[in-house]
Amino acid sequence: MKKIMVIFGTRPEAIKMAPLIHALQAHPDLQPIVCVTAQHRQMLDQILTLFNIKPDVDLDLMRPNQNLAELSSRVLDKLSPIIAEYQPDAILVQGDTTTTFCAALAAFYHNIPVGHVEAGLRTGDIQSPFPEEMNRVLTTKLARWHFAPTSYNRETLLAEGINEEVVFVTGNPVIDALLWVKHNILANSVAKQVATATVSRPYILVTGHRRESFGSGFESICQALKQIALNHPEIDIVYPVHLNPSVQEPVSRILASVSNVQLIAPQDYTAFIALMDKSLFILTDSGGVQEEAPSLGKPVLVMRDKTERVEALKAGVKLVGTDTHKIVTESERLLTDPDYFNSMAEAINPYGDGTSAINIVEILANTLK
Ligand code: UD1
Ligand code: UDP
Repeated sequence: MKKIMVIFGTRPEAIKMAPLIHALQAHPDLQPIVCVTAQHRQMLDQILTLFNIKPDVDLDLMRPNQNLAELSSRVLDKLSPIIAEYQPDAILVQGDTTTTFCAALAAFYHNIPVGHVEAGLRTGDIQSPFPEEMNRVLTTKLARWHFAPTSYNRETLLAEGINEEVVFVTGNPVIDALLWVKHNILANSVAKQVATATVSRPYILVTGHRRESFGSGFESICQALKQIALNHPEIDIVYPVHLNPSVQEPVSRILASVSNVQLIAPQDYTAFIALMDKSLFILTDSGGVQEEAPSLGKPVLVMRDKTERVEALKAGVKLVGTDTHKIVTESERLLTDPDYFNSMAEAINPYGDGTSAINIVEILANTLK
């Protein structure tokens, strides 16, 4: 049996690692060791419960309003003895968070090979998304296997000089997670009703949390949401607000008093998928949501200036930045122009067919043999 340590810490990493953990559990030659840094606490636990994952190690690292340097040093400091104790044959990390990069670095210090899930995404601008673009670049340097969601991501890595024999196009396990939830839980009509019980009118779904937008970018986003809500009393805006205090503060200050804006707590993944599925369209800066929405045939306006998910731009996803006027204008167009809306609402899935986790696990099993 080869031991594969799966390390993650935030909500999106948990969603994308869950199908991999299930696939590792089912594999005859591989054994997962699940280690969570708990860079997120509540938002991570929602996902662990849903996918029935009980971590072998929980570092419980989240602190209120943590900063990047202290979080990074805690991850490195606390992970090192765990890696030394378990001596895994390989370590898997996912995406571009502080946990991703610091876990890859800790693995490197212990000379354990690292597999990077969701490899090869780039905007080409180290300030955007911040600090994620740098985390991706550095994690690529540390990884032994690169699991690229698309062939475009693979080409990006090859252009950076990564050996083609260690770059694999596998799809993104976010689609595995989405399909698992759709089939196993949303097919259950009671669960679906509970998930969408809070909304009875047509609504736009919103999420937002990117660090590079903190301050004026977030003020501008919230002003746009307020204007859309006031212009359209016949619809709601439903916004599950990220728990980061830098997000909570401007959102509640600007939007709490607007009667057709519903500010709600972060939703568990099932409820959130149900909310996406029933929405008119989605305004977001999230990476994961840009990957999921095309599968559901939902138009997405991305409140960022740059994207690393270029495939989504052909699948109903459009960049609108954080400018108030642009967000309002683009939203108005989706609300009032059915032809335009329909051109963005075709269900397309550039990120795989739900077999990504199995693909990755098979590659690992073959190379570790
Ligand atoms: C992190 C990732 C980002 C990812 C995002 C997903 C980094 C640098 N950022 O950003 O790439 O897209 O997660 O959501 O790795 N908090 C809670 N409870 C939670 C989660 C967060 O209270 O369950 C609050 C805490 O006060 C915490 C703060 O949010 O200190 C920031 O969390 P952190 O993980 O540092 O940054 P995110 O903005 O969540
Ligand atoms: N999500 C969720 N509940 C919510 C909001 C989002 O489960 O209330 C899911 C969403 O479907 C996606 C992921 O969380 O899979 C995105 O996480 P986040 O926006 O925190 O991070 P990012 O994708 O931007 O890194």
